[in-house]
Amino acid sequence: MQALVSSSRRAPAALRASRGFATSALRAQAVPTDKPVKAKEFKIYRWNPDEPAKKPTLQSYTIDLNQCGPMVLDALIKIKNEIDPTLTFRRSCREGICGSCAMNINGQNTLACLCRIERDESKDTKIYPLPHMYIVKDLVPDLTYFYKQYKSIQPYLQNDNPPAQGEFLQSQEDRRKLDGLYECILCACCSTSCPSYWWNQDQYLGPATLMQAYRWLADSRDSYGAQRRERLQNEMSVYRCHTIFNCARTCPKGLNPAAAIAKIKMELAAE
Ligand code: SF4
Ligand code: SF4
Ligand code: FES
Repeated sequence: MQALVSSSRRAPAALRASRGFATSALRAQAVPTDKPVKAKEFKIYRWNPDEPAKKPTLQSYTIDLNQCGPMVLDALIKIKNEIDPTLTFRRSCREGICGSCAMNINGQNTLACLCRIERDESKDTKIYPLPHMYIVKDLVPDLTYFYKQYKSIQPYLQNDNPPAQGEFLQSQEDRRKLDGLYECILCACCSTSCPSYWWNQDQYLGPATLMQAYRWLADSRDSYGAQRRERLQNEMSVYRCHTIFNCARTCPKGLNPAAAIAKIKMELAAE
């Protein structure tokens, strides 16, 4: 934070005034230091839909870590700002809240803004888009179907008997049942790390969507549990989960979609 404050003071007025990229850009540049150059290579997946005949490539960029913020997103922003403006990736909050900077870094699906740059300069950092997805450009996966699946579970409170006055009330105990579920930021790191989702994406809902399906089943204020369960009661929507736990291992928010899926299976089995 100190670095951010002092770099804001030194930033040119035009940069301070610009929206969106300003905060991230400042952090990516970090505070200019007199330290020796610490050159680090990043190899980044590139593919341009405007050149469909050209195969995807890994493009190499080298930056000075002593002139860059500590996270992989800082490095990407620095590369985009200072070396190659055509490099394309999603980002917004830069603090693990929006879920938009999900990508595969050194073999692990994670959020670039929460992933520290490995300081060892002898090792490069490889960055790919989330695996087994269609790609829009470079590090941007097409999440259209992922969101369609999320929409299919009707992720909102349904209750035909609202209280005569005020809000739906919930005991503290019932509220606690939503802990570990509501924190999901829908980054898709878990679903795109799940082998069952890779092979059956058209029918299997995948860990992110299923955890949200359970979030509404577990909500004491919702009275549509029977309809929700009925939509899941088939061979493909839930039962393609083979409890491999890749999803729980990869979740950058420390959540456990596999456990939520197990609870859905128990509810379906009890019917
Ligand atoms: S469960 Fe974790 S990995 Fe999966 S979408 Fe939610 S936050 Fe991302
Ligand atoms: S536990 Fe289920 S949802 Fe999670 S990675 Fe394994 S198969 Fe996929
Ligand atoms: S930029 Fe929002 S989660 Fe990384």
